[in-house]
Amino acid sequence: MTKRFAVILAAGQGTRMKSKLYKVLHPVCGKPMVEHVLDNISNVNADKIVTVVGHGAELVKTSLEGKSDFVLQEEQLGTAHAVKQAKEVLSNQNGTTLVICGDTPLITAETMEALIKLHESQEAAATILTAFTEKPDGYGRVIRNSNETVERIVEHKDANEDERKVKEINTGTYCFDNQALFEALEEVSNDNVQGEYYLPDVIEILKAKGKIVSAFQTSDFDETMGINDRVALAEAERLMRNRINTIHMQNGVTIIDPTNTYIDSDVKIGKDTIILPGTIIKGQTVIGEDCQIGPNSELVNAQIASETVIRQSVVHDSSVGSKVQIGPFAHIRPESNIHDDVKVGNFVEIKKAEIGQGSKASHLSYIGDAEVGSNVNLGCGSITVNYNGKSKFLTKIEDNVFVGCNSNLVAPVTIGEGAYIAAGSTITKDVPGESLSIARARQVNKENYVKKLNLKN
Ligand code: UD1
Ligand code: CA
Repeated sequence: MTKRFAVILAAGQGTRMKSKLYKVLHPVCGKPMVEHVLDNISNVNADKIVTVVGHGAELVKTSLEGKSDFVLQEEQLGTAHAVKQAKEVLSNQNGTTLVICGDTPLITAETMEALIKLHESQEAAATILTAFTEKPDGYGRVIRNSNETVERIVEHKDANEDERKVKEINTGTYCFDNQALFEALEEVSNDNVQGEYYLPDVIEILKAKGKIVSAFQTSDFDETMGINDRVALAEAERLMRNRINTIHMQNGVTIIDPTNTYIDSDVKIGKDTIILPGTIIKGQTVIGEDCQIGPNSELVNAQIASETVIRQSVVHDSSVGSKVQIGPFAHIRPESNIHDDVKVGNFVEIKKAEIGQGSKASHLSYIGDAEVGSNVNLGCGSITVNYNGKSKFLTKIEDNVFVGCNSNLVAPVTIGEGAYIAAGSTITKDVPGESLSIARARQVNKENYVKKLNLKN
């Protein structure tokens, strides 16, 4: 089988984004656009992937760590100059080289595979992925001769009036015979409006040498869009979101309103789970089967088991067991581990806490830096007092404890198994198991005192 190589162009600044963040690092559905490109290429089994980095080189490398080789383009002199930087790594190889821009995250592995297959079957020196659009402004145009074969590509800025009317555009993705590519790159000049070395010029050079140049026309322009500014970024996000939501629905997830549900590309969701509108599911979140998530919930790197309900709540970097009820209006902060059958009700905040099976915090609580056993009842307004202004301390609540309403548990403190805390207590010392602890002022009733005060007229 012919060897396959890939070059990703990711050295540009992305001036049109008007951003401090380098263009290819802007996320689309939670993942930097260049990482989408790389992950898609990984599915076409390339023997080597080389990413050309320049602006933000270190950050781009960190984001693609372990998945690509890198070459540095110190000065951004154009896309041909960018590919040339891979010469040392690739030029002595024989095979097919896929070149793709780091700002086209929607091109699928299937399209790349089809492009490579066509290229190899035609024994072409170059095959361009082209698309048709009613709004070709900004793209390079594909210029064909009277036989309809591709002659060259002209950049928008260099094109004359007639050329600008052409609706077939260069998507910026190509396949090349590796040797022919590096030979032709030597001949590219920067004699054009932008004074840049254009990769598309390789096409005309190869044609002049009598080599076969082919084109693969995709019917789906949306898939090939290049992201140059924030307007395109939002459009790409919309298209990718639709693609992600469709896959989940095809896999058996109910999404009530896909236009109003925002799921990152690496999220996993089990069958028969229902996602209600206004829900944002980010990062490496994994959700089991038969859950109900939303409306208006935000899950970030959350691990949710099956049959759990999360209503109008936030869960960050935490795990939640099965048959758990969360919300409405609960906030599960990082490093929390909520076991099966737990109930976390309205206005409850949990941070860095273990909540054992079957325990309940139904209303208005703060549980932070805590280990809560199983079947514990945390009454309304229970608070772990974990912070003295300087350090954080642990509260341990063993199995079957009952904490009465409006209790403060001043950490470090341990409440022994089966203990009972009277409502309104401020607990500062450990409570032994099975005991009742009351830590509040005794009630005093002064009869007829009001009359004595003589306050009433
Ligand atoms: C490029 C193509 C254009 C095509 C369009 C498709 C050229 C000259 N033009 O235009 O024909 O229709 O893509 O989206 O190739 N880059 C580098 N080093 C450089 C310059 C660019 O690595 O010196 C990288 C950028 O980071 C980017 C990619 O190459 O990821 C494309 O560059 P960009 O400036 O976006 O090219 P376009 O003007 O969109
Ligand atoms: Ca572009």
